[in-house]
Amino acid sequence: MTRLTLTTLTTLCLVAVASARYTKPEPAPPSNPKTYNGVKYNCKCYEGDACWPKANAWTALNSAVSGALERVVPDLAVCYDNFEGKSYYDEVKCKAETANWANQFYQVDKSIANLWTYWTNTTCVPPTDGSPNSCTLGYLPRYVIKATRKEHIKAGVDFARRNNVRLVIRNTGHDFMGRSAGYGSLAINTHSFKSIKFTKKYAGPGKYRGGAVTVGAGVHVKEVYDAAFKQSPPVVVVGGECPTVGLTGGYIQGGGHGPMATLYGMAADSALSYDIVTADGRYVTANEVENSDLFWALSGGGPSTFGVVVSVTLKTHPEVPTAGLILNINATHTNDTNQIWNAVAAFHNRANLWIDNGMFVYYELFPGSLHIQPFVAPGKTAAEILKITKPLFDDLDRQKIPYSKVAKGYKTFYQLYIDLFENEHAGDSALVGGRLFTRKDISKNGNDIIEAYKKIVTPDAGGYMNFGFLIGHIVGPGHGVPKANNAVHPKWREGSSFTITNVLVPNGASWSEKAVAQKYLTDVVDGGLRKASPNGIAYVNEGNLEEPNWQDAYWGSNYPRLLSIRKKWDPTGVFYTRTTPGTEEWEVVDYGSRLCKRV
Ligand SMILES: Cc1cc2nc3c(=O)[nH]c(=O)nc-3n(C[C@H](O)[C@H](O)[C@H](O)COP(=O)(O)OP(=O)(O)OC[C@H]3O[C@@H](n4cnc5c(N)ncnc54)[C@H](O)[C@@H]3O)c2cc1C
Ligand SMILES: *[C@@H]1O[C@H](CO)[C@@H](O)[C@H](O)[C@H]1NC(C)=O
Ligand SMILES: *[C@@H]1O[C@H](CO)[C@@H](O)[C@H](O)[C@H]1NC(C)=O
Ligand SMILES: *[C@@H]1O[C@H](CO)[C@@H](O)[C@H](O)[C@H]1NC(C)=O
Repeated sequence: MTRLTLTTLTTLCLVAVASARYTKPEPAPPSNPKTYNGVKYNCKCYEGDACWPKANAWTALNSAVSGALERVVPDLAVCYDNFEGKSYYDEVKCKAETANWANQFYQVDKSIANLWTYWTNTTCVPPTDGSPNSCTLGYLPRYVIKATRKEHIKAGVDFARRNNVRLVIRNTGHDFMGRSAGYGSLAINTHSFKSIKFTKKYAGPGKYRGGAVTVGAGVHVKEVYDAAFKQSPPVVVVGGECPTVGLTGGYIQGGGHGPMATLYGMAADSALSYDIVTADGRYVTANEVENSDLFWALSGGGPSTFGVVVSVTLKTHPEVPTAGLILNINATHTNDTNQIWNAVAAFHNRANLWIDNGMFVYYELFPGSLHIQPFVAPGKTAAEILKITKPLFDDLDRQKIPYSKVAKGYKTFYQLYIDLFENEHAGDSALVGGRLFTRKDISKNGNDIIEAYKKIVTPDAGGYMNFGFLIGHIVGPGHGVPKANNAVHPKWREGSSFTITNVLVPNGASWSEKAVAQKYLTDVVDGGLRKASPNGIAYVNEGNLEEPNWQDAYWGSNYPRLLSIRKKWDPTGVFYTRTTPGTEEWEVVDYGSRLCKRV
């Protein structure tokens, strides 16, 4: 038995001192106690509060990020005589900003702009007749770091943590749910992390030795599709349907569905490794072997929750010949709404058939119009897609429903993507929700879902909206990847159809008008879909921020593990977005402005 000598004791002591010095806890961040409606909180620090960092602290942060710190002035301030006591008015710039308001490609490159404007509080938007001549910051960040190196990301995370300032990560600004905005916060813009590197043989860790690609935090879906197609032979990456959605930000961290997801699974199912900056400011790699809990959680566990992703390595998949089909039924064909609804039923009640054939479908439903563009059938020819869809068209013919249809075969998925997917726009103010229907919902309750659709698209007169619309996707990642060991809700494996709901809200709506719109979305619109699909779930990236029991709706049986991983990697709440694991004690109070923790 070894006896403890004086020397070993001294050594132990020195080690203890050295490691204590190394992990010396940093001083507690300033607290900011407040009371709202009789409830006691500790809030993040905001400009005007005593605990807000002094000017010299911001100057030091600016040097630490090589001058990349900006004090936010909304882009549209150039249209107003007064923003925070100063005029930024410039007629030419105002015209340019207004003309590009709805242009996704223009908006994603901005420092802080949000493509869906509701959660900016729409206080600085293109002016209309009778607009006031001043505009305000609304719920936009107060400062933004336009990061170009991972050291800048770390500096931002450290600054937010040490100073108790709300931190927001902004990649493309695509988020429907305002999760890349945040009143009075410090934002880190990751959009310039554009590296894309392919390998034909992944070196591990883990067993996988196929093709892979490492993608920087700021890369868009279409940038990856373009680069993947240029490989020899061309490859495919699971990405979203919209060209400017970021791949590594909210998209993959919330799961990520898309045109190839029925064949190859969710984007998160393809993840091999993440490089991140953690809440305590460390650079960490997470994969099957290193920090495997984090790896599991980052793959579908929610955006801006476990760290700032700097890059992701994902599996690439074989390119395949792909067939597409467009189907339209609208006023050029019929004005009989019953015919349109019968067509919607004929199409949607066959969702499981489309999934069984490895297909994905994107469609839009407006009053009097069913627009399906496209059906995507990877690995199939034009003749094959016509054969697969024949039961649908026989059904429409039998019911004498007129339609137009075009089927086309392509040598690759990429060529189909370029030819058939339509661009989307930006600049709308809407609340968003949605529902994933499982195979069982489709087979058992298909007609109930159609009845719920009808009530949303053509609601009873006198309701909140006199028309509505739905954005639908037939997608079934369980077809290609029946089981995955990640945080994506296990019910996605039974998924068959995912629908996004919207409630348009006018710019400048009052707090009480917003509450009415939100209630209509939650109770009537999403409520109807929920009731019609007892086996369904909700999707954290395209969901309702007031989804009842969101923990279960977004993650099901994965939630308890996600909660404990969140507590381990971000115990103090450096990161925050609503309805993500571990945010139960946090609230955005004072009319949607201050982020505070109940004490
Ligand atoms: C037009 C449109 C089409 C869409 N199509 C699809 C689709 O086909 N399939 C699908 O699954 N989803 C789709 N989405 C939803 C999309 O997945 C989410 O909006 C997603 O949050 C976008 O992520 P982003 O990084 O591009 O956006 P951002 O708004 O910049 O960020 C979204 C969230 O991710 C966080 N985040 C961003 N970067 C990082 C990072 N590096 N590390 C940690 N957190 C980060 C942000 O803080 C925020 O919480 C679509 C959305 C829109 C508006
Ligand atoms: C948000 O908008 C509402 C309605 O226009 C306004 O009353 C409120 O002051 C705004 N808040 C912020 C922080 O912009
Ligand atoms: C209506 O259908 C026609 C095809 O017949 C199509 O060209 C048109 O874009 C459709 N309209 C809408 C609003 O989808
Ligand atoms: C539907 O109504 C519109 C507007 O009245 C008309 O232009 C169109 O021709 C009608 N369509 C059919 C198929 O009758």
